[in-house]
Amino acid sequence: MRDIHFDVLIVGSGAAGLSLALQLPETLSIGLLSKADLHSGSTSWAQGGMAAVLHERDSIESHVADTLQAGAGLCHEAAVNFTIQRSREVVDWLIAQGVDFDLRNDQPDQEFREFHLTMEGGHSIRRILHSADSTGSAISKALNARINERNNVRILTDRCVVDLIVNNGATVGAYVLNTLTGEVETVGARAIVLATGGASKAYQFTSNPDGATGDGIALAWRAGCRVANLEFNQFHPTCLYHPKARTFLLTEALRGEGATLHLPSGERFMPRFDARAELAPRDVVARAIDYEMKRLGLECVYLDISHKPSAEIEAHFPSVLAQCDSLGLDITRDRIPVVPAAHYTCGGVVVNRFGATDIDGLYVIGETACTGLHGANRMASNSLLECFVYALSAAEHIQSHLPEVMSESLPKWDDSRVRMSDEAVVIQHSWHALRRLMWDYVGIVRTNRRLKRAANHIAVLEQEVDDYYASFTITKELLELRNLTQVAKLMVACAQHRKESRGLHFNSDYPRLQDQASDTVLVPVNATCGLLTLPDYAASDQ
Ligand code: FAD
Ligand code: SIN
Repeated sequence: MRDIHFDVLIVGSGAAGLSLALQLPETLSIGLLSKADLHSGSTSWAQGGMAAVLHERDSIESHVADTLQAGAGLCHEAAVNFTIQRSREVVDWLIAQGVDFDLRNDQPDQEFREFHLTMEGGHSIRRILHSADSTGSAISKALNARINERNNVRILTDRCVVDLIVNNGATVGAYVLNTLTGEVETVGARAIVLATGGASKAYQFTSNPDGATGDGIALAWRAGCRVANLEFNQFHPTCLYHPKARTFLLTEALRGEGATLHLPSGERFMPRFDARAELAPRDVVARAIDYEMKRLGLECVYLDISHKPSAEIEAHFPSVLAQCDSLGLDITRDRIPVVPAAHYTCGGVVVNRFGATDIDGLYVIGETACTGLHGANRMASNSLLECFVYALSAAEHIQSHLPEVMSESLPKWDDSRVRMSDEAVVIQHSWHALRRLMWDYVGIVRTNRRLKRAANHIAVLEQEVDDYYASFTITKELLELRNLTQVAKLMVACAQHRKESRGLHFNSDYPRLQDQASDTVLVPVNATCGLLTLPDYAASDQ
């Protein structure tokens, strides 16, 4: 494939990208790209479930109030209302696509069977719809099955977008690296949607899959879009700590069903930090664990659900049980060693309620976007919901705003001045250095000096990566490093700008909350970080 054109090019095959492809009419030609296979994003790894207002004692107002409280004053109330009001519609749509959510098994009468809802931090009522503890995989499988039935969707796996092509303030296409052949393809489109997931790979320890390198944020930034609130990277409190396991998530639903957190001495410590104990929002729980680990010099703390009946644990948490079992841990009897790890990018590319960005024809949805829903701290299980709601609204907007004509002649990718690399070690080295410094200097607790140190180191790394990019043939590893370095720089710039501690951003030089909550908005000025703080950053809702 050299030059190809689609009506809509969707970059990313997670919850956001797949559902958008299915929501668009079959009369449109769609290109659906993924860096690896179709299951390569975070979506397939989602465990706990999706928040939605379904219980008879629940209400939209209650879900909104919990989300606003978790977001520590920075959520955009209109975005929160918009998202939660559509939760029932999204659930019905997912069921129609064939997603099987768990039902309560205490109601044998088919007609009156209800969903089994679980509990997670920050929620004041059970409202998490799930498929045991592998909800993302169930969703991904069902949506993939539907996508394969669509004749208008061309699936292109092993493709990594290098850069967007912008002409007269509108996106007209993208350069795409075929990672199997090394060829760079030029793809034209009337609209482009970035649904590329988050950037938690910026940290040495993360719950995310390898591809979470912030590509969409970097692509949109280089194309001229504003980004916001990148200082709010969420750390999940409980990832498995084991020498033989890469970080594996222990779903918050475990705590929802009664699991407690303990020090090696056995002391249950969360009640000392928050009245909600283990069910406080994630920022509170992660910071408490970090504090105890630093105070006592611990390598981990422990999660314990062994007091619950084994049959209940086996039915509700089969994946966690199997993963731990493979490492010799029996969670029905043993306590589980856990540490916090980078988990979710709350900030992202500034969009309106249709996922539209500052650039005509460019949309951003899912974890890549900053819609205003999460504020300073995402409440558990609100992100899958956001993916589906904004895919739906973007689909509506795209249909009515597609330009009549497509740009036929796009500038070709020019690699005449680069050569094959003979020092790929630079990529490996910079990759590890970047993620290590982000963990050490831009982690759960920050200080002005650490942030400054991080900014200095990143500037050096960025220069090296840029030199390398200008000299050598591109590879996926190079593109990911380039993007991650750029996003890390933006994260640090946002963190340096915030002169308070709010939600996920805790700076011990500014431990207090300012009276006025404001977003951190970065504006690209000649590809450097300009900085603007706007009380309401949403682009026009038209
Ligand atoms: P992703 O699912 O991450 O998909 C990104 C896609 O973009 C992939 O296909 C990738 O290949 C592609 N891509 C990226 N860059 C490029 C590029 N340059 N070129 C081409 N393609 C590219 N949220 C909840 O609400 N509930 C949960 O229970 C939950 N559990 C979680 C558990 C884990 C372990 C993790 C990691 C996250 C969890 N989350 C959960 C968060 C949630 O899963 C994600 O926020 C959500 O799935 C993101 O979906 P997405 O479609 O935005 O991106
Ligand atoms: C989990 O299952 O703990 C993850 C939920 C989420 O990230 O929303």
